[in-house]
Amino acid sequence: MARLVTERLLLRPFGRADASEFARLAGDWAVASMTSDIPHPLSEMQARAWLRPGRGEVRFAMELRGQLIGGTGFYRRHSGAAEVGFWLGRPWWGRGYATEATSAAMSYGVRSLRIPGYTSSHFVDNPASGNVLRKLGFEPVGRGKIISTARGHDVEAVTYWLDAKRALERLPGVHAYLAADTPRWRAWLGRIAGRAV
Ligand SMILES: CC(C)(COP(=O)(O)OP(=O)(O)OC[C@H]1O[C@@H](n2cnc3c(N)ncnc32)[C@H](O)[C@@H]1OP(=O)(O)O)[C@@H](O)C(=O)NCCC(=O)NCCS
Repeated sequence: MARLVTERLLLRPFGRADASEFARLAGDWAVASMTSDIPHPLSEMQARAWLRPGRGEVRFAMELRGQLIGGTGFYRRHSGAAEVGFWLGRPWWGRGYATEATSAAMSYGVRSLRIPGYTSSHFVDNPASGNVLRKLGFEPVGRGKIISTARGHDVEAVTYWLDAKRALERLPGVHAYLAADTPRWRAWLGRIAGRAV
C-alpha cells in the first residue's frame, strides 16, 4: 500500500506494533462512541484484529513526527464507491489533522484507485465530523440509523456523498506520494508529475 505525505503528516499502513497505542487512543469513549465499528472498551487483542484490513479496505495510520495520532481511509464497496471513515486521538483534535489526512487518502483513492465517488456518515451528536466532511466537499444526502458498536445500539446519522469529479476539484492535500513498495522511478515520476504513482 502507498505511503502518503501531507503538509504535516505521514500516512502509512498500520502494523502490529500500533495495536497498543491504537487501543489507547481509539478505545477512548470520546472517539469510539462516534464511530460505527470501534468497540469500547477496546482490548489490545481486539485492536490487533481491527487493524488487519479486510477485503476492500484501505486504511492509513496518521503519523505526526513518529507518533501515531489517528487513522483514516475507506472501504471499497462492490458498486465501486467507497465509504470514508476517520478518527483522531483526543490530544490532537481541533488542528485540522483529520481534514488534512482524509483529503490525502481520498485524493489517492480517486487518482490511483479510480474510486468513482465517496459516501460517509456521522452521528447527529458529532458536529465536528460533519464539519470535516463538508470541508472535504461532501454534501448531505439523507438520514438514517447506523449501529454504534461502542454504544451498543443504533444512532441517528446524516449520510453524505462526494463524486470523483468534485473530489478532484476539492482535494489537493497530498504533496507527494511515496511509493515505498514500488520501484523508485515511479516515486520519482510521481513527484515530478505532482500526482499519484
Ligand atoms: C471528528 C474528528 C476526526 C475531527 O478531527 P479534527 O482533526 O479535530 O478535525 P478538523 O480540525 O480537521 O476539523 C474539525 C472541525 O469541526 C469543528 N468542531 C470541532 N468540535 C466541534 C463541535 N463540538 N461542534 C461543532 N464544530 C466543531 C472545528 O472547529 C473544525 O471546523 P473548522 O475548521 O471550520 O474550524 C475528531 O474529533 C474525532 O476523532 N472524533 C471522534 C471520532 C469521530 O468522530 N470520527 C468520525 C466518525 S464519522
